[in-house]
Amino acid sequence: MTQSTQYKHEHLLSEKGKSRSFTHFYRSFPLPDNFKAHPKPLELVGGVPNFQIFPVESLKVGLRSKPFPNGYDTDAQVNAATANAAPSKDALSFDVLVDASEVNKVAEKDHHEEIDIKTGLQYSNTPGMDPLLKFTKDFTKEVIHPGYEDWNTILTLGGANGAYKAFEAVFNEGDVLLAQEFTFTPVVQSAKDIGFDIVSVPMDFQPTTKGGKAELTYADHLSKLLDNWATEQPGKPKPKAFYVIPDGQNPLGFSESLEHKKKVLELAEKHDFLIIEDEPYAYLNFQPVTEEPNFQLTTKEFIEALGDSYISLDTTGRVIRLESFSKVYAPGVRTGFIVGHKRVIELITEYTMVSTRNPSGLSQIVLNNTISALGGLQGYLGWIINVRNEYLKRKNALVLALQHSESVKKGWAYVNDAECGMFVTFVVNTGDAESKHEYMMNEFRLATAQTGVLTVSGGNLSISEEAKKERANFVRISLASAPDLKTLEEAAKRLSDAVVLLHKDDKQ
Ligand SMILES: Cc1ncc(COP(=O)(O)O)c(C=O)c1O
Repeated sequence: MTQSTQYKHEHLLSEKGKSRSFTHFYRSFPLPDNFKAHPKPLELVGGVPNFQIFPVESLKVGLRSKPFPNGYDTDAQVNAATANAAPSKDALSFDVLVDASEVNKVAEKDHHEEIDIKTGLQYSNTPGMDPLLKFTKDFTKEVIHPGYEDWNTILTLGGANGAYKAFEAVFNEGDVLLAQEFTFTPVVQSAKDIGFDIVSVPMDFQPTTKGGKAELTYADHLSKLLDNWATEQPGKPKPKAFYVIPDGQNPLGFSESLEHKKKVLELAEKHDFLIIEDEPYAYLNFQPVTEEPNFQLTTKEFIEALGDSYISLDTTGRVIRLESFSKVYAPGVRTGFIVGHKRVIELITEYTMVSTRNPSGLSQIVLNNTISALGGLQGYLGWIINVRNEYLKRKNALVLALQHSESVKKGWAYVNDAECGMFVTFVVNTGDAESKHEYMMNEFRLATAQTGVLTVSGGNLSISEEAKKERANFVRISLASAPDLKTLEEAAKRLSDAVVLLHKDDKQ
């Protein structure tokens, strides 16, 4: 593996990551000069099983034509039955060939290559099998467009695994990671394993009340924290990286504006840290419910609507982007990818070689050949748009029901009209009674247990004790698993009823 020494941010990479150098025992031994070796030696080198030993000889995969091809069914039992019913009429299916070399050879230029059984079930390249790895690069060029040239990609075992690997490439023991005070806490728990320290960044979030624009800002807090680092975080080294979920933030469901991303990137330059952007929800982007939803997006309109990301604004390789197939394909494939400067990807590749190796060949076959069956990148984007439309319908149903609920109309609660992602924030108005804040949220949780709706308390997804006490007066509502829109509307009513219970003794 060649080392790219031209990386501007080399000093921000971990010593362990930089010191790894995986040497494969396959390497052929050097021959003396002018030695005449056999031109075609018999290769009995690797422990690579002959594919005819593999018990799997054929695979057939059926695809849904779209999410919920048979529509919604409100009766849970009927719903369970349709989940197991025969595929819908216009469903696609494909056979995985034992050997696809001929098909791939004769295919047209822009055909997405298939992975066959012979290759897919064999040992393979650590960064990913060629067609799927090529897809991650095509997707990056077409959809993500990093602002610098020297980027590369590598497959991971999903977004969380990608985060761990990015952290591993950056942190030495005792280094500091910045993270949003409300965040996807399982990911930052890697800190315990790698030994880095986490400092939380306070956030301001203004949910939409009557159709206004939701705002999520923290750049000023970040700036203050960094400018006064020595007094705010005495004895700690300056942070090496910032872990951020910019779009469809988990748990808040907010997205950062372009101006905000630019401010944060300026701070990263001024204070010299990397940005690790985790974007599993970026493709589930919506309009506010006050606008007529456009369910008929073309792939071009869809890409344009995504706007700029940290990595598309970055010109020096400061941003590492984590991608996941979990939210737009299926979590069980345990596959995602990282886009980063080729030097960062080099370190991550070395670590992958000594840890997880590549994602499962079966996952790569099914994922890659689905993309192929859908018609390559454009067809796959069409599938993502379908998934996004499903979440848009869900978001609209839930947000409208909450906006029209008694508690919101009375000003006792607010709802965030999420711009992106799987989560909607429902904020309980605790008024000025910050001292009563924790008490009220506990009462609210009890009330929801009574009215019958389960959500996640904001405080459970916080890394800051102060935020838990002072700013966690919200719950995260997931749009993901409800069987239909009616369930979400009923959930909205039950959440609102729970707030009303809190106020039942008020004279208002
Ligand atoms: C912000 C964030 N990152 C990563 C993950 C994990 O994704 P994956 O299933 O790809 O590991 C999640 C899952 O909910 C998430 O919300």
